[in-house]
Amino acid sequence: MTQHETETKTTRPLDEAKAQAFLGKVITDCGAALSAPLVLIGDALGLYKAMAFAGPQTSAELAARTGTNERYIREWLLNQAAGGYIEHDPATDRYSLPDEHAVALTDDTSPLYVGGMFHIVAAVSRAQSRIQAAFRTGEGMLWGEHDAALFPATERLFRPGYVANLIASWIPALDGVQAKLEKGAKVADIGCGHGASTLVLAEAYPNSRFHGFDNHGPSIEAARQAAQEAGVGERVTFEVAGAQNYSGADYDLVAFFDCLHDMGDPIGAMRHTAETLASDGTVLIVEPMAGNSVEEDINPVSRFYSAASVLLCMPNAIASGPLALGNQVSEQKLREVVNAGGLTRFRRATQTPINRIFEARR
Ligand SMILES: C[S@@+](CC[C@H](N)C(=O)[O-])C[C@H]1O[C@@H](n2cnc3c(N)ncnc32)[C@H](O)[C@@H]1O
Repeated sequence: MTQHETETKTTRPLDEAKAQAFLGKVITDCGAALSAPLVLIGDALGLYKAMAFAGPQTSAELAARTGTNERYIREWLLNQAAGGYIEHDPATDRYSLPDEHAVALTDDTSPLYVGGMFHIVAAVSRAQSRIQAAFRTGEGMLWGEHDAALFPATERLFRPGYVANLIASWIPALDGVQAKLEKGAKVADIGCGHGASTLVLAEAYPNSRFHGFDNHGPSIEAARQAAQEAGVGERVTFEVAGAQNYSGADYDLVAFFDCLHDMGDPIGAMRHTAETLASDGTVLIVEPMAGNSVEEDINPVSRFYSAASVLLCMPNAIASGPLALGNQVSEQKLREVVNAGGLTRFRRATQTPINRIFEARR
């Protein structure tokens, strides 16, 4: 046995029920993993859209409606029914997509939309060999080194949540910020990616000015394009810049949407933010839901996030600075980071099942 190998056989009797329960769990997980490409195919070929709110259909009808091959569709439908994504009526041999599933799979403006998660799974999986090697070397991997599909996938993942919550509940949960934005405020959106959050804010508050910053050039290009399409004009700018050196001063609001934990120097980011903030300005920090202990993080939401943390968020932080928080960082650790950056007030303003929304001030 080499020093890297461990004993894989046991002479102790196994608990048969426990073994069977685990096999059941694994077949469910592997079935879901192997079905993920089929969800992306259903999305890309418009199969879910053709089934949405359209009533029960046979495989031949769905194939005809979507210009696809019936034999492939029949097998795809079986997989989707076995996974509980669609329903099968044995009396008519027709398949239907429940309305609730149709919204989740086809309406990317709905808070129920789940398509982004599958795109993230596909894009991030391509980094496996690189991350596997990093487990030995300890090296990082920058955000921009991932497959190009990651960046639009991230927008698809987060945008529905911003549309649903940002104006309706997150901004109102901050002390006095809504009134400032309505009157006319200066806002910086740090690590803005494709600018989804920036544009949701800009459209809601026409008297305010917004400046999105991200150190990933192609994302800033995409954000500029989106701003042009949204017709928000001079009120919104996007620049390539890091969290520790973005331009401007006297911001009424500086926002970090799902990105502070990605940064290798989050304390440096907070320090620069404290310097660029107006004296009564507010920092909005949106972070993935997480608890304050390992036990509190043993749940399906944490399972998804912690996988993303290992494959994506933590390697970016390792590659770019001294402190890799991971996306399951505790509230206490975040408080320490914010305080170390010179902001003394820190509180959880609100939350959703998948997001924590923090407010920090001088
Ligand atoms: C998970 S994505 C979130 C993007 C965007 N805020 C959203 O909600 O869609 C993290 C973003 O942080 C950016 N980022 C990471 N480290 C950064 C840094 N030090 N300065 C600026 N941006 C950074 C990445 O380029 C990426 O666009």
